[in-house]
Amino acid sequence: MSDYAPQQPATARKSPALKGRARVPGDKSISHRSFMFGGLAAGETRITGLLEGEDVLRTGEAMKAMGAHIEKVGDTWIIQGTGNGALLQPEAPFDFGNAGTGSRLTMGLVGTYDMETTFIGDASLSKRPMARVLDPLRLMGTQVVKAAPGDRMPLTLRGPGVAAPITYRVPMPSAQVKSAVLLAGLNTPGVTTVVEPVMTRDHTEKMLKGFGASIETETDKDGVRHIRIEGQGRLTGQTIAVPGDPSSAGFPLVAAIIVPGSDIVIENVLMNPTRTGLILTLQEMGASIELMNQRSAGGEDVADLRVRSSDLKGVNVPPERAPSMIDEYPVLAVAAAFAEGETIMEGLEELRVKESDRLAAVAAGLKANGVDCAEGEASLAVRGRPSGKMLGGGTVETHLDHRIAMAFLVLGLATERPVTVDDQAMIATSFPEFMGLMRDLGAEIETAEAVA
Ligand code: S3P
Repeated sequence: MSDYAPQQPATARKSPALKGRARVPGDKSISHRSFMFGGLAAGETRITGLLEGEDVLRTGEAMKAMGAHIEKVGDTWIIQGTGNGALLQPEAPFDFGNAGTGSRLTMGLVGTYDMETTFIGDASLSKRPMARVLDPLRLMGTQVVKAAPGDRMPLTLRGPGVAAPITYRVPMPSAQVKSAVLLAGLNTPGVTTVVEPVMTRDHTEKMLKGFGASIETETDKDGVRHIRIEGQGRLTGQTIAVPGDPSSAGFPLVAAIIVPGSDIVIENVLMNPTRTGLILTLQEMGASIELMNQRSAGGEDVADLRVRSSDLKGVNVPPERAPSMIDEYPVLAVAAAFAEGETIMEGLEELRVKESDRLAAVAAGLKANGVDCAEGEASLAVRGRPSGKMLGGGTVETHLDHRIAMAFLVLGLATERPVTVDDQAMIATSFPEFMGLMRDLGAEIETAEAVA
């Protein structure tokens, strides 16, 4: 997406009760990894339920540029991978658009190859810190040939002849950093170890094991995880059914809770415990969320969620829960605006370096709509007002951030006056079906003509 694309505003207005069943698109984290590991593994990988959002498709393009064959036949993505250790030098820079996960994981994947790769992205991605991935890669022998100030994109990597295995303690709770080091370890002789003091989403570990990598996790007496991967092994293509994205499900879920009279079912949602912090928190707030048809699919827990509108009360969200709901704080803040009393969210420092400074963007958006909130260095306190009395009427700046756009459109479904977001175009990076899915449930959201 060009940085100069015209903005496409959208407006959400007070809606009648939401009803019906919805199926959210495939999980973004698993979709990125399916393209990557499928592109790398020897033989055929077949993927159904893939999220066809812009971010994930860019990861697919990157894998193609390094020799993988990827095609879609009917509903199935079919990949012929290169084989571990056999990626080719791409002819052009990788353009990762808005995608933090795609770019950071790919840096790890290619960083130990004896080749040069260049990474570019949009204005949002170019502001995001990449040192968190480049630092461990440097320890493994990767040279950062060029980078914008502060180790930002655009940047160029040159891999070593033979990479050195490391033991790396991840300094912040980040699945992207953990994954980048493990992926670098795939093309490194010997054992690369990631030490993870705070558990983050474990899709990389689980999926790599499924593809046949020699990877083991041990949790010590202090709860610290030690993940060891033996490099240069064989990966073999797999069949993957991607479950629905709990982060995307968060939007219709909160919408149904705050729009009076709503009763919806969201089908096939990933229930991996590293991803369910929002559901737990909303249940603590008094939300009616019923887990139905709980089952295991492709090594992951999934369930259908029946969600009914509910009276909420404010809660304290403990900081240690942040990794399991890191992308859900914008929409949780919207729910908190409708709760009786105060909701305090802490441990939010990572929100400052997402697609936007999400802490600042959420606080500004709430204030623009008359919600009483206080932004701290790494915390947010929202003093809610029970449903029906929220003013709304504001215009929210989305700063090229899909989750800010979707969260505030959800807010507008239950406020007295409509809520406008300045740009909804970025929603396509993670949830291209958002508008249609919400409208089918009864949400009143209008998109305006693009404004230059
Ligand atoms: C992701 C990890 C998280 C999350 C992102 C997806 C992943 O980022 O916010 O949307 O797929 O590994 P961090 O690793 O920066 O916490």
